[in-house]
Amino acid sequence: MSLGTVAITGAAGTIGSVAREALRGEADRLILLDRVPLRQEAENEDTHCVDLRDAAAVEAALAGADRVLHLGGVPDEAPLPDLLEANVLGTHHVLEAARRTGIERVVLASSNRVTGFYATGHLTGPQEPVRPDGLYGVSKAAVEALGRLYADKFGLSVICLRIGSFERVPAEPRHLATWLSPRDALGYIRAALTAPPSTRFATAYAVSANTRRFWELPDPAGLAYTPVDDAELHAGAIPGADRPADPAAPQAGPYALPEFTLRHLRP
Ligand SMILES: NC(=O)c1ccc[n+]([C@@H]2O[C@H](COP(=O)([O-])OP(=O)(O)OC[C@H]3O[C@@H](n4cnc5c(N)ncnc54)[C@H](O)[C@@H]3O)[C@@H](O)[C@H]2O)c1
Repeated sequence: MSLGTVAITGAAGTIGSVAREALRGEADRLILLDRVPLRQEAENEDTHCVDLRDAAAVEAALAGADRVLHLGGVPDEAPLPDLLEANVLGTHHVLEAARRTGIERVVLASSNRVTGFYATGHLTGPQEPVRPDGLYGVSKAAVEALGRLYADKFGLSVICLRIGSFERVPAEPRHLATWLSPRDALGYIRAALTAPPSTRFATAYAVSANTRRFWELPDPAGLAYTPVDDAELHAGAIPGADRPADPAAPQAGPYALPEFTLRHLRP
């Protein structure tokens, strides 16, 4: 399926840069948004310096897009007002632009941290209630809820990817379960952008085929991609990889600790 014109928010970021480079040869045109200035790197790229908090600027930049890959936002624990503004309000503006201008597909970058308090011994699927491991996870739960609302109420086609740990190679024991390789990330992104319009709404974990993973792989009915990489192949290079994981410990690991959130709360 032709990708047509694809907009990428957060195009200057870690995943955005990888997606941009891969998709520029596959899409007719790329519309790239970030709050930091981007340089045009190919003839079919349009770049926009836009803050996601500015609804009018987001809508103006997204004009003409067939599909949106919404990656922009705060990607980790932060004070709740910052997360609400960048992640929740920012997503609202992207969805509003999609509703008002008739964009076919919106792919939302959610996170595994929406369910970080499930135990590592529990194979978790997207149908289970959210159990965020922090304020960041709460903001991503709201992102998913906004996507669902726009699909149910306004008929938009929205796919939420609960991204695992996007790393070139897995580097720590938790990554043995959570790693998302760049190759698999692009596979999931392509599948989400091109899923048939009959997929009105879907939520899926975007994780590599890790032997130790604790998330279900996507239902092919919603997202037709089967990951190919396995963090286990890198286990020999990861200190502590041979220690067995506690099946009762939260999937989020250190992110689940109170200190991780307390840094962003009043003493
Ligand atoms: N990297 C991971 O392992 C991972 C895991 C789970 C989820 N995610 C999600 O995937 C997305 C991309 O992650 P990443 O690792 O590339 O993050 P990143 O921080 O590298 O990129 C995010 C981009 O968003 C931009 N941005 C932030 N606030 C903005 C605003 N108000 N207006 C406009 N642009 C803004 C930043 O400038 C940055 O370029 C994020 O939504 C993140 O929450 C990432």
